[in-house]
Amino acid sequence: MNVLVINGPNLARLDIRDSAIYGDMTYPQLVAHIENAAQTQGFKAEVRQSDDEATIIGWLHEAADKKLPVIINPAAFTHYSYAIRDAVELVKSPVIEVHLSNPLAREEFRHTSVISGVANGTIGGFGPNSYVLALIALKALLA
Ligand code: DQA
Repeated sequence: MNVLVINGPNLARLDIRDSAIYGDMTYPQLVAHIENAAQTQGFKAEVRQSDDEATIIGWLHEAADKKLPVIINPAAFTHYSYAIRDAVELVKSPVIEVHLSNPLAREEFRHTSVISGVANGTIGGFGPNSYVLALIALKALLA
């Protein structure tokens, strides 16, 4: 089964983000990590990244139309994008929110997720393995 993995703004620049927070993987390495883990769990992952809110909303509409399960790291949009929240709500397949870091252990503005309330669950703080844990959770949800 296909799973759409959506990464939000600035995640494609992991090479120049704070490695103490986001780890040492480059974005292409993260994509390979997700694709391999998906294969292990019996999924085919299509991994996309955009810095643009409208593009992400379009991908969520596509997931809703095609009934695709979604793993989404909305990045900074997590904390304020009601438009992405409303688009996630349209996806009736499982949607799992992931974060590389643990937003709850960081600045106060990161403690709010407007997405969590419409996702099946949220996984954060495990670096690239947040995505692996999300894939395991997704497999269990779909079983
Ligand atoms: C992030 C956490 C967000 O607060 C931040 O804006 C990001 C990445 C994470 O994966 O840890 O860009 O979603």
